[in-house]
Amino acid sequence: MRETVHVPLGARAYDVLIGPGLMAEAGALIQPLLPRLRVAIVTETRVAALHLDALRSGLSAEGIDSVVLELPPGEATKGWAHLEQVTEWLLDQKIERRDVVVALGGGVIGDLVGFACAILRRGVRFVQVPTSLLAQVDSSVGGKTGINTSQGKNLAGAFHQPSLVLADTDALSTLAPRDFLAGYGEVMKYGLLGDSAFFEWLEEHVPAMAAGDMGLRVAAVRRSVEMKAEIVTRDETEQGERALLNLGHTFCHALESATGYSDRLLHGEGVAIGCGLAYELSARLGLCSQESPSRVRAHLKAMGMKTDLKDIPGDLPGAEALLNLMGQDKKVVAGTLNFVLARGIGDAFVTSDVPRDVVLGVLQDALRGN
Ligand SMILES: NC(=O)c1ccc[n+]([C@@H]2O[C@H](COP(=O)([O-])OP(=O)(O)OC[C@H]3O[C@@H](n4cnc5c(N)ncnc54)[C@H](O)[C@@H]3O)[C@@H](O)[C@H]2O)c1
Repeated sequence: MRETVHVPLGARAYDVLIGPGLMAEAGALIQPLLPRLRVAIVTETRVAALHLDALRSGLSAEGIDSVVLELPPGEATKGWAHLEQVTEWLLDQKIERRDVVVALGGGVIGDLVGFACAILRRGVRFVQVPTSLLAQVDSSVGGKTGINTSQGKNLAGAFHQPSLVLADTDALSTLAPRDFLAGYGEVMKYGLLGDSAFFEWLEEHVPAMAAGDMGLRVAAVRRSVEMKAEIVTRDETEQGERALLNLGHTFCHALESATGYSDRLLHGEGVAIGCGLAYELSARLGLCSQESPSRVRAHLKAMGMKTDLKDIPGDLPGAEALLNLMGQDKKVVAGTLNFVLARGIGDAFVTSDVPRDVVLGVLQDALRGN
């Protein structure tokens, strides 16, 4: 039950391995990359308590020594202070230009450690061992690394591809159900943006997948990674098509900002709600039938996921304020908001041609619960 997706980026090409038991084999899989039998692992305490021993014993089975830095879990770790801490720690550990750093954790650790590796000695190789569903299907693949700043999310960063990704699907079984479902928001996104047959497959199989069926988990992660790899290979630095991966994200980033990047709304939850809103906007612009947003929302509801703005606990700012927060998004080009819209399920495209008042109307109705 092991799948490999190759990301063919020339000198920066790498494999994404997907399946159970990969951490136990990490030594044999990472060893070919190493100039000496030593790696530095950066992780966070919650993941370390659950999975660090498995990874370290997998490494030591091949005689690979490891030094470990454990950071606090949570989005707040993805900032300047921990970037400095990781970089200085790696220097203190005498990690050299040819050495390999291992990032063990969810998207927070992958983004932070990837960025530290991008700037350390002007570029050190790293291996992603993503442990959350979101990190396995999205953040560990494609080379976007970075941190949040006080101005917003992911505003400082670099493109730095990993040398290998080990997506051990056993790790998914220790995720809190809420974190699993948040990651599922990104899985669903792939079906919506470019593969209607995958979306249909998900509608049929996701309840069993969420309940723990390993074969279905491997299949869902593989198809997601395959789609991301195809898009990234055609547009590594987001000059065009890669922006499709931001389906739901313009709305999501405004909502995350409005909720203070707090526990009120997880990133993947915001993506799921944002996908629903992007389809609603598409329907109002006459691009797709009303059936599409209804189908997205029905699927989210069936999964017990946050679907509407009223599912976010606490107060939200008004529609104008949310629209202004969308204007802070990185995807703003020359002051114009870029949206990913859709002509139907599995048929998304990028546009900047969206009248402000229609977006405002979607937000007003969403806030009223219509
Ligand atoms: N680089 C990219 O292309 C990209 C793409 C999408 C998202 N992201 C970023 O990813 C981050 C979100 O990622 P995330 O949802 O993985 O966040 P995360 O790293 O905070 O993990 C979510 C939660 O799950 C816990 N966790 C992780 N693995 C676990 C496991 N196996 N068992 C039990 N608990 C586990 C973590 O401790 C945390 O509490 C955001 O910062 C987002 O901006 C980056």
